[in-house]
Amino acid sequence: MGISQTSESGKTARLRCDQTTAWTKLHEAFSNAGGSFDVREAFATEPRRFEAFSQQAPHVFADLSKNRLDANTEALLMDMARQSGLEAHRNAMFAGEAINNTENRAVMHWLLRFPEQNSASALVKYDSSAISKVAKELSDVHTTLGAMLTYAEAVRADAGITDVVNIGIGGSDLGPQMAVAALDEFVLPGKRFHFVSNVDGHELAATLKKVRPESTLFLIASKTFTTIETMTNAASAKAWFTAHGGTDIARHFAALTTNVAAANAFGITTTFGFWDWVGGRYSMWSAIGLPLAIATGAKGFREFLAGAHEMDEHFRTAPLAQNLPVRLGLLDVWYRNFHGFTSRSIAPYHSALRRLPAYLQQLEMESNGKQVDAAGHALPYGTSPVLWGEPGTNGQHAYFQMLHQGTDVVPVEFVAVKKPRHSLPGHHTLLLANVLAQAQALMLGKADTGGHKNFPGNRPSTFLLLDDLTPTSLGALIALQEHRVFVSGSLWGINSFDQWGVELGKVLAKDVEARLNSGNTDGLDGSTAGLLARMRG
Ligand code: F6P
Repeated sequence: MGISQTSESGKTARLRCDQTTAWTKLHEAFSNAGGSFDVREAFATEPRRFEAFSQQAPHVFADLSKNRLDANTEALLMDMARQSGLEAHRNAMFAGEAINNTENRAVMHWLLRFPEQNSASALVKYDSSAISKVAKELSDVHTTLGAMLTYAEAVRADAGITDVVNIGIGGSDLGPQMAVAALDEFVLPGKRFHFVSNVDGHELAATLKKVRPESTLFLIASKTFTTIETMTNAASAKAWFTAHGGTDIARHFAALTTNVAAANAFGITTTFGFWDWVGGRYSMWSAIGLPLAIATGAKGFREFLAGAHEMDEHFRTAPLAQNLPVRLGLLDVWYRNFHGFTSRSIAPYHSALRRLPAYLQQLEMESNGKQVDAAGHALPYGTSPVLWGEPGTNGQHAYFQMLHQGTDVVPVEFVAVKKPRHSLPGHHTLLLANVLAQAQALMLGKADTGGHKNFPGNRPSTFLLLDDLTPTSLGALIALQEHRVFVSGSLWGINSFDQWGVELGKVLAKDVEARLNSGNTDGLDGSTAGLLARMRG
């Protein structure tokens, strides 16, 4: 029985991972040897283990060898991917089919980084039946990109604008915020970037204290232009602007949205659009990336797109066994559904990547935090792990105790950068020594009969290494993460591109807001009623 998600081409028949024969074989492999797999023993018996379980993908070197994985298991995982129709599902995404079936939308964030000059010839390599449709979208993408980058360059050249305040939340905040921080070394001196997301007025109020109306550009970033947090912050920012003598809304406000009509109705005439086939958490390659484009310039933003495109091509064309997003996504399924690991810790050993864990939380957990398959059937296995983490070495002095000696095993994903962009002596070697040592300590452990000083070891980790943190390598790293989420979501048989789970809270918040104003607690549960009364008291 498949998921029965049909498509235009009819080629995307998907089987859930548990409906493949490889799934059964993997369970056998797990009970025979996989469950007791010891990475230390594997290194002792496999002289070429590092070579077999590491690879160079575009701009990202990955070492998977410290994971609880052997060649036999990886081969079975690949079989499972093939049997589930992963390749056809991936090709359907790259052909512009409506694989977001609950919203009947295509999933084409990859098209946002597809180079213009290749359009005619490169599209032939894609599904020919989809060429005409996608070619039109591609042309729209480049028209908008050109306009947005021209605007970004104008803002950069405008010495009168010193502060850019991005108002948005979720995918309209986390991506640009993460990327602007990550590429700090490339940010134009003289411009400051602020990100306001929370409806908590403390955040906007604190930002407004730092800026002046005459030198600030507000970017109102919202795919829908209806999100309550963003609309509330945008209205307050506009009111503050006019109350402090600001008059030129066209110069000081721009909207990044698919809902240009709503932005116009709000009073914003400078707008940059995108399309419903760009999911919010996949949108920083679109107009939502404007803060990054202003920060790094048209050149930087185009390099960011180009790095991601290289990873797209890798994902689209590399054989499964050498396809890094596929290997990572399958490992995620192996850990979640066979080992039963429920979380993954992200440890970027680069302070500029401090927002990477938060960004990846939305990417993974909003995409794959689902309990039904794409056809709406309840799933009999776990899906998205919990993602969490902090930059190293800070995490070492906080929660690494639990990673080394806690009762739960948490796979760790280290991200390190070979080349520093500062010249302070000693620091970078120390940083790299620490990241290597942590991965080593997790794996090796240390026997001590005394108990408290015993490190069990055999704690798995993946190591991602960039040569340098640049717009290009960041683009590749993020596209890698997008595609690995696609892979595990595809195996789990879910629609990774909707987010119905965020709706209920939004609806209830409206009701509770009215009750906070009126004091009416009729029909409320006892806890909510009690807390509400205390808040009003
Ligand atoms: O509430 C979740 C969500 O819809 C995310 O998926 C999205 O990134 C975020 O809200 C912001 O949405 P918008 O860009 O439409 O304001």
